[in-house]
Amino acid sequence: MAEKVRIGIIGCGTIGTVHAKSYQQVPECRIVAMCDILEDRVQAKAKEFGVEKTFTDYHELLKDPEIDAVSVCVPNDMHAPIAIAAFQAGKHVFLEKPMTLNASLGEEILKARDASKKLLQMGMVKRQSADSVAVKELIDNGRLGEIYQIRVKLIRRRGIPGLGGWFTTKARSGGGGLIDIAVHFLDLAMWSTGLWNPTKVSAKVYSKFGKDMKNYHYISMWAGPPDYSGTFDVDDYAAGFVRFGNKATLSFEVAWACNAQSESYIEILGDKGGVKIGEKDTVLLTELDGKLADIKLDYRKDVDAFAEEMRKFVAAVQGKGKVAATGEEGLIAMKLLDAIYRSSEEEREITL
Ligand SMILES: NC(=O)c1ccc[n+]([C@@H]2O[C@H](COP(=O)([O-])OP(=O)(O)OC[C@H]3O[C@@H](n4cnc5c(N)ncnc54)[C@H](O)[C@@H]3O)[C@@H](O)[C@H]2O)c1
Repeated sequence: MAEKVRIGIIGCGTIGTVHAKSYQQVPECRIVAMCDILEDRVQAKAKEFGVEKTFTDYHELLKDPEIDAVSVCVPNDMHAPIAIAAFQAGKHVFLEKPMTLNASLGEEILKARDASKKLLQMGMVKRQSADSVAVKELIDNGRLGEIYQIRVKLIRRRGIPGLGGWFTTKARSGGGGLIDIAVHFLDLAMWSTGLWNPTKVSAKVYSKFGKDMKNYHYISMWAGPPDYSGTFDVDDYAAGFVRFGNKATLSFEVAWACNAQSESYIEILGDKGGVKIGEKDTVLLTELDGKLADIKLDYRKDVDAFAEEMRKFVAAVQGKGKVAATGEEGLIAMKLLDAIYRSSEEEREITL
């Protein structure tokens, strides 16, 4: 391998652009190629980031022997085909969340990774934020004691992305707010607590705001503007309850849109302490010498979580560390999401 890890970025939309900016903060790598089906977009992005090679067909990019690793930053339905083709071409893969459309496709990705002996890092950027890292450290040091309940709340009052486009078309996205944003928090909840064994799920998903596209009132839209001739056949609200054996439980509420104020946090309750991820300050609620104590944690907050992800991926490719989020973990999250959708559809508790 060359001295610097040579990166190709596939998909130059919102997150592909973030990947490019973030790789540029990692001196041990160099972006050598970019690809997008939109010729104008890939040309503009290559110019912006000073990248020499451009492609409109990812197969061509993958043939280039001067690329060691690729970032897959395309709509969810293209995650599996591109990740599998990349492994077959002998590239390491950084795959954006969610892993893919469902768990069986996730298993195909892992098979391709194993056959190639290359690395897969999942794009679980929330793990890299300063408060997530601080909370994980608290938990690893036993400060929360035995964890028995996690509350996940991820509410957007009006936050449907790309209304009518691929985000809201089930065949292309695999689902709505649940697969798009809850995946981050479900991963974060399992990673921070080490509870990687979801066993049973009872849930319900709803589609209340996006269906009547013309009457969806919003202030801003990620991946907008809306395409009123497009499709909305996904969830915009979900609530549910997950068991981790008989040891711990997780309740969640997630909304792309609903009539409640926006808020997002994960609250973790243990028998020695409780803590929230997602607040301005991270405070451990505990007891000290027989008294209740609120301990505010002090730590550096100026972490660029995306750059941290790239740094870890590049180091792993160079054999200097581990990937920041594994494919196996991505698959557990995928299985959990599948079970949530199934529980809603079949109106019953699902055993994983
Ligand atoms: N980690 C995060 O916080 C985060 C945030 C946003 C999006 N994402 C994920 O990143 C992925 C992309 O989301 P986005 O918001 O950037 O979407 P986007 O629509 O802004 O960009 C997707 C890009 O992929 C291109 N594309 C589509 N098919 C392609 C193909 N076959 N080959 C090459 N390029 C192709 C499109 O032309 C577009 O430019 C999704 O899976 C999404 O879930 C992750």
